[in-house]
Amino acid sequence: MARKSPQPRRIGILTSGGDCPGLNAAIRGVAKAAISHYGMRVFGIQDGFRGLVENRFIELDDRAVSGILTAGGTILGSARDKLAKMLIDGEKCDMAATAAENLKRHQVDCLVCLGGGGTQKNALHLHTATGFNVVTLPKTIDNDVAKTDITFGFNSAMNIATEAIDRLHTTATSHHRIIVCEIMGHSAGWLALGSGMAGGADVILIPEIPYDLGKVAEHLIERRRHGKRFSIVAVAEGAMSVKEAQALSMLSKKELKELEAKKIRKVESGEIHLVEEPKASRLARQLQQLTGTEARVTSLGHVQRGGSPSPYDRLLCTLLGTRAAELIAARHFNVMVAIKGDHAEPVPLKEVAGLCRRVPADHPWIHSARLAGASFGG
Ligand code: F6P
Repeated sequence: MARKSPQPRRIGILTSGGDCPGLNAAIRGVAKAAISHYGMRVFGIQDGFRGLVENRFIELDDRAVSGILTAGGTILGSARDKLAKMLIDGEKCDMAATAAENLKRHQVDCLVCLGGGGTQKNALHLHTATGFNVVTLPKTIDNDVAKTDITFGFNSAMNIATEAIDRLHTTATSHHRIIVCEIMGHSAGWLALGSGMAGGADVILIPEIPYDLGKVAEHLIERRRHGKRFSIVAVAEGAMSVKEAQALSMLSKKELKELEAKKIRKVESGEIHLVEEPKASRLARQLQQLTGTEARVTSLGHVQRGGSPSPYDRLLCTLLGTRAAELIAARHFNVMVAIKGDHAEPVPLKEVAGLCRRVPADHPWIHSARLAGASFGG
């Protein structure tokens, strides 16, 4: 009779990509269940896949993960590295073999990776290139990881952005202004849509629905005709006009990448050059011109990623983290733990990595926001 493989004795855990509220709560969930319930040893890896390749491991005992449920950021640190193309001495190298060697050196049997789209790809690459076992959790304020109902971090960020929109309302009302509020989300507009709806924004612009600037201006003028002397425009970082969307659709992948690189603020000889005017500023300027109403711009930026997780995210992270430990104990590897209704369920990692969950055009939130009077400019 074939012998059953034993339960893993040691696991590793890392956080990778942009941070978000809830990472510590998820680390705690995994570690508490793994240590107390399954008798495993847990090793934290610093600064994501970079720390994994550089062999920066620290043991996390029960004390190390106590009191971190409410703490923002990540006690492990995070970084944006591609495991298959890691920059080492200026060259892009596939570091999967080194990563697996380091994990084996610490006798780790499974690596838990907490991250968004890039992290899911890194984890799958580690597994396919070396056979090493991984389990991932879906993290990002963008809420754009495939095959899960929601990602952790999203709810906290939505609360922050909604509060900001609430505050912008009072000042916009006092000064009879248009305020354009830029919200994170390059490829997916979940955060702008969710906080825009919850904060009662008058215009919501998301990457999934290219907008017609004329229609946006017309909506704002129409509001003024109805005696509403202020307006809030919630715009996702990645939102674009119909013209921009058409122009971009003509470009090759290479040309798109080059364009992206050009938009970055360049630091040259110690000085920062803004290569292109930020989208939200341009939009505010254009709307001021078209409507004749004074416009201002607020970019929420990394404020949305900071601070303590919301109660909902703490709950989600505990559910996801403890489920990850449970799955590892049962040797159920190479999956992402996804939220499906009230449950945390495994989904094969290969069905997740490389995909981006964007807002579908027929999503009930969009339908409802339109019925409540918001314009998407298209
Ligand atoms: O991926 C999450 C995210 O917050 C995006 O919404 C945003 O575009 C990006 O990270 C910003 O990343 P960085 O921290 O590298 O500036």
